[in-house]
Amino acid sequence: MKVKALYPGTFDPITYGHGDIMARAASMFDSVVMAVAASPAKQPLFNLETRVGLARQVLSHLDNITVCGFDGLLAEFAVQCEAQVLVRGLRAVSDFEYEFQLASMNRALVPHLETVFLPTATRYTYISSSLVKEVAKLGGQVDQFVDPIVVQALRSKLGSGRKTVSGPIDV
Ligand code: COA
Repeated sequence: MKVKALYPGTFDPITYGHGDIMARAASMFDSVVMAVAASPAKQPLFNLETRVGLARQVLSHLDNITVCGFDGLLAEFAVQCEAQVLVRGLRAVSDFEYEFQLASMNRALVPHLETVFLPTATRYTYISSSLVKEVAKLGGQVDQFVDPIVVQALRSKLGSGRKTVSGPIDV
């Protein structure tokens, strides 16, 4: 039986940490779908179409993967995609409690849906999309965390709002 996995997240934007999980999942499963959640509550910087587009470009070297956007319940989307497995990355012990809850809820909703946790590569454990955006907004270099395509997208998006000089504030 061919096993299809689904790797969900907001990916606002995709980082090298996400790319590492995708590459490893792609080598474990017959096919992997990166499922980019609309996540309106997180008020993403990039709209869904851009997040999907960036992920497609960044992951174009992997041939057994697809990237698509979704809105609504993850467990339902996994059923629609005919995925048997959810992939989640664990960065630290602190991720575990929430991830365990998420996995249990998804399995309660769809009993055949298993969650597989992959430990995030040590060099990426401290990365999050929010931190990357914050560093970029404040004029810091983010090229060690995200693909050059994403660096460019952040530059275009943040444009003149991007702070380039830091210094003391007179009070
Ligand atoms: N490398 C780098 N960063 C990583 C990472 C890795 N391996 N793994 C996680 N992260 C980062 C993410 O970028 C994210 O950063 P941010 O919060 O700054 O955006 C953070 O860690 C948290 O990641 P995650 O827990 O995956 O949150 P998310 O918002 O990316 O995804 C969903 C959460 C979309 C999977 C979840 O909200 C969901 O399932 N939504 C659909 C609605 C639903 O079904 N709800 C019921 C669930 S039971």
